[in-house]
Amino acid sequence: MKVTLSVLKADIGSIGGHITPSQALVNEVKNFVKENSKNLLIDHYISYTGDDIAILCTHDKGVSDEKIHKMAWDAFISGTAVAKKQGLYGAGQDLLKDAFSGNIKGMGPAVCEMEFEERPNEPFVFFAADKTDPGCYNLPFYLGFCDPMYNAGLILSPKMSDGFKFRIIDVEYTEKDKVIELNAPDEIYDIAALLRDNERYVIESIYSRASGNQAAVVSTTRLHNIAGKYTGKDDPVALIRVQGEFPATGEVLAPFEIGPFVAGFMRGSHNGPLMPCKLKSTISFFDGPPVVTGAAFCVREGKLTEPADVFDHPFWDYVRDQVSKKASDIRRQGFSGPAMLPYSELEYGGIVEKLEKLEKKFKLVG
Ligand code: F6R
Ligand code: MG
Ligand code: MG
Repeated sequence: MKVTLSVLKADIGSIGGHITPSQALVNEVKNFVKENSKNLLIDHYISYTGDDIAILCTHDKGVSDEKIHKMAWDAFISGTAVAKKQGLYGAGQDLLKDAFSGNIKGMGPAVCEMEFEERPNEPFVFFAADKTDPGCYNLPFYLGFCDPMYNAGLILSPKMSDGFKFRIIDVEYTEKDKVIELNAPDEIYDIAALLRDNERYVIESIYSRASGNQAAVVSTTRLHNIAGKYTGKDDPVALIRVQGEFPATGEVLAPFEIGPFVAGFMRGSHNGPLMPCKLKSTISFFDGPPVVTGAAFCVREGKLTEPADVFDHPFWDYVRDQVSKKASDIRRQGFSGPAMLPYSELEYGGIVEKLEKLEKKFKLVG
């Protein structure tokens, strides 16, 4: 059967700063979805990573379905009411528009969805990252799909020898979706030339070239483009189908061992290493470090298994230690140079006023 996987995610309030949603808030969203999903969803799974709460659901309505998006929007509205009642920090933070207008995209919450014909066994991984932006997946997914150093299947499995097609979006262009399609391995240097710039060019989706089937989708919203000012980092979600004609689960996970430096961290304005964490991880050191969690599932006729926590293994404890070391190292240089993001990416407007004031005090001498 044809199934649609949809993930809709928002920061609608959290305990003690931007740390984690309260249990009451999570329960409210869970209950709302349970009550309002009859005849709409086949299955669903509610989770949280850092201060973001995500609704993963399965249905047969296709992508961008108004009823699915409205249900998620209303779930976030009803969660926000609880967040306000409890005095949670940043209650309703990601709900940037007053009224629902047909599609949750462009209203604040992050969305990624894909519709496909279910394989007889259908494994996939749902990633959620906090304190960072959609470009955080550029390097891991590039390596997992293009590089035989990480993806042994590119050498060993005939099913993958044709490579993958990448759809990459220019997130700085806001009038419409501006996308380019490039094929790996043929155009691998062009892909790398774009993905180098995590803040501008972002992987939107990936397809098997042999079958045309979709392997991956990433939420690509930039909140500051929607709101016109800092309202929090985008905290992207992604779905990856694995095994068979797609990379093995471990091939997709392997690049996360790098703990690549990504934009985000404190005040969305720093570079920090992306730490692969267990499900339900909170946020701590310097409002970070940026975290990513992964929940692996199988789906059959739209019914989900329970999640398997892909980063809950002793190997990733070792990686987390290494990534902590990277985080400490860069933090030790505070605001200097690459520790803080370039001017164009700073998420707070205050510095603009400060520099304007200082500009007036400069004197031309000599
Ligand atoms: C980053 C983030 C936090 C906040 C910081 C200040 O995405 O959410 O680092 O930027 O805690 O928060 P405000 O500006 O809400 O006081
Ligand atoms: Mg937040
Ligand atoms: Mg967040």
